[in-house]
Amino acid sequence: MIFYFSGSGNSYAVAKQIAEHIEGEQVIPLASFKDFKQCDHAERIGIVFPCYGASAPDIVLDFKNELFRHLDKKGKYVFAIITYANSPAGSYLAFKEDVDAWFKVKMPENDIYGAMAPTPKKEKDMLAKSVTLVNRFTEGILNKKTIIMYRPIPGIRFLSKQGYKFVKYMYKDFGKKLYADEKCVKCKQCIKYCPVQNITFDVKPVWGSDCVNCFGCVNRCPENAIQVGKKTQGKRRYVHPDYKNIYY
Ligand SMILES: Cc1cc2nc3c(=O)[nH]c(=O)nc-3n(C[C@H](O)[C@H](O)[C@H](O)COP(=O)(O)O)c2cc1C
Ligand code: SF4
Ligand code: SF4
Repeated sequence: MIFYFSGSGNSYAVAKQIAEHIEGEQVIPLASFKDFKQCDHAERIGIVFPCYGASAPDIVLDFKNELFRHLDKKGKYVFAIITYANSPAGSYLAFKEDVDAWFKVKMPENDIYGAMAPTPKKEKDMLAKSVTLVNRFTEGILNKKTIIMYRPIPGIRFLSKQGYKFVKYMYKDFGKKLYADEKCVKCKQCIKYCPVQNITFDVKPVWGSDCVNCFGCVNRCPENAIQVGKKTQGKRRYVHPDYKNIYY
C-alpha cells in the first residue's frame, strides 16, 4: 500500500510511478484513509508527501502517527519518500524510528506564495531527472533494501525546527486569504481539487476553515483565478502532468 498526500501532484506522481512496478499495488490518498486494518496484510507500506517548512505537513505527521499506532510492523517493509523543491533539511528525523527506508526527490516548486514555480524548461528537466531517480528507488523498494538518503549535518535539527516554525507562522492565515478573482468561470472544478474537501460552491467558490495550504486549488484552477492575497497574482502555476485527472 502506498499512501500519498499531494497538492500539485509531485508526490502523487512519485507514488504512482513506484506502484506501477509492483504487481497489484495501489496508491491511496492518505487524507481520507481511516481503515488501518487494511494494512495488516500489506507486504510493503509507503508514504509519499511534500516537504513543508523543512518538515512534513502536519496532516502527514498525524497520519503517520496514527498508522504506526495501528500497524504491526513485523514482516513489513516500510518506506517514506519526501518530494521537495530546495532542501528536505531534517525532515527525516520525524520518521527515523518508523521506516526501513527514506528517499528524497527534488521536484518543481509548488509554493507560489512564498516562492516561484520553475520556468517550463527547468520544470521539464527536473521532472525528467526525478523519473530516473525514482526508478532507482523502485529497485530498492522491490528488493526491500534499507536505504536512508539522509546525511546529518551539525545543527540540522535546530535549523529544521526553525524552518518549521517559520512556515507555520507564514501560513497561519493562509486559508482565509484564498479567493477566486474575476477570471473565475464558475466551473466548480476547484471543489474536486481539494484533498481535504475544504471548498464548496455558493455562486462562487467558498473556502472553509480546514485548509492545509497544499496549493492544489491555487495551482490547478484552469483559469489561474485562485489567489492568495495579492502575492500570487500573475505568477506562473505548476501542476505535475500526471495529476491532471486526479480528483478528490
Ligand atoms: C507550504 C509549503 C511549504 C514548503 N516548504 C518547503 C521547504 O521547506 N523545503 C522545500 O524544499 N520545499 C518546500 N516546499 C515545496 C514542496 O515541498 C515541493 O514543491 C513538493 O514537491 C510539492 O509536492 P506536491 O505537489 O506533492 O504537493 C513547500 C511547499 C509548500 C506548499
Ligand atoms: S476552478 Fe477556478 S474557474 Fe473553476 S470555479 Fe474554481 S476558481 Fe472558478
Ligand atoms: S483549500 Fe487549501 S487544502 Fe484545499 S486545495 Fe486549496 S490550498 Fe489545498
